[in-house]
Amino acid sequence: MNNGNKPIGLFDSGIGGLTVAREIMKLLPNENIVYFGDTARVPYGSKSPEVITQYTLEAVSFLLSQDVKLIVFACNTVTATCLEKLSASLSVPVIGVIEPGARAAVNATKNNRVGVIGTERTVQSRAYETAISALNSQISVHSKACPLFVSLVEEGWLENEAAYHTAKIYLEPLKEQGIDALVLGCTHFPHLKTVIGKVMGEGVELVDPAEETAKEVFQILNEKNLLRQEETPATYRYFVSSNPEKFARVGASFLNRPIEPISVIDPQQFKDKV
Ligand code: DGL
Repeated sequence: MNNGNKPIGLFDSGIGGLTVAREIMKLLPNENIVYFGDTARVPYGSKSPEVITQYTLEAVSFLLSQDVKLIVFACNTVTATCLEKLSASLSVPVIGVIEPGARAAVNATKNNRVGVIGTERTVQSRAYETAISALNSQISVHSKACPLFVSLVEEGWLENEAAYHTAKIYLEPLKEQGIDALVLGCTHFPHLKTVIGKVMGEGVELVDPAEETAKEVFQILNEKNLLRQEETPATYRYFVSSNPEKFARVGASFLNRPIEPISVIDPQQFKDKV
């Protein structure tokens, strides 16, 4: 098969990476996609770098078994933990979401005060601080871990009272920092855009790294002559490690299309195969 006709592989701890998948589907509607959400082991954000790296190796190994042409770590936690370490040794290009997110934040802020919300692991890594200051050292970054957002999204509680109150408790202190742009530095969080926007108010732009990530996917595929040439409609396949019904229900309402076909796999079977 011409390499360009192979699918793009996306990976997240759960449903969050669909926010990136959606932007890729919009920008590159001709591309086939294989998505893996590690729903049996979500959340990743409170786990150690060693454990996250091991899970990532298994996921990458699974995606390579699906003959993907490029892998997107559609997860900030994974990107912050092991993108740099793993990308050099893999046989296909790998991209993460943090550099695209940092670029989008730098473009969005006017007062040079940026907020970042993410998982505990992403915030501890200071990956956004590093990426933003490499682009513009004048920008101050104010970060806050919001781990409960991940569970709200996996549960499909996107706009109810619990979501709103949780957002208020996490975000009120950030508002006091005078930021004018807030990076949704966990791919689960754009699912909560409505409540986050309500709490932050109109003066704060919500920055979703997904759109910029999709642009980077296009750029790399284009540069490497890997854009899909076939003209038959693109196909999407979804894999999870547990609970396909919940993933399909929440995912379908987000993507506005049925999540099918969906299969359950055990990522540990792919251990040590990279
Ligand atoms: N969606 C993920 C991220 O972007 C991680 C959520 C989690 O598993 O804690 O960081």
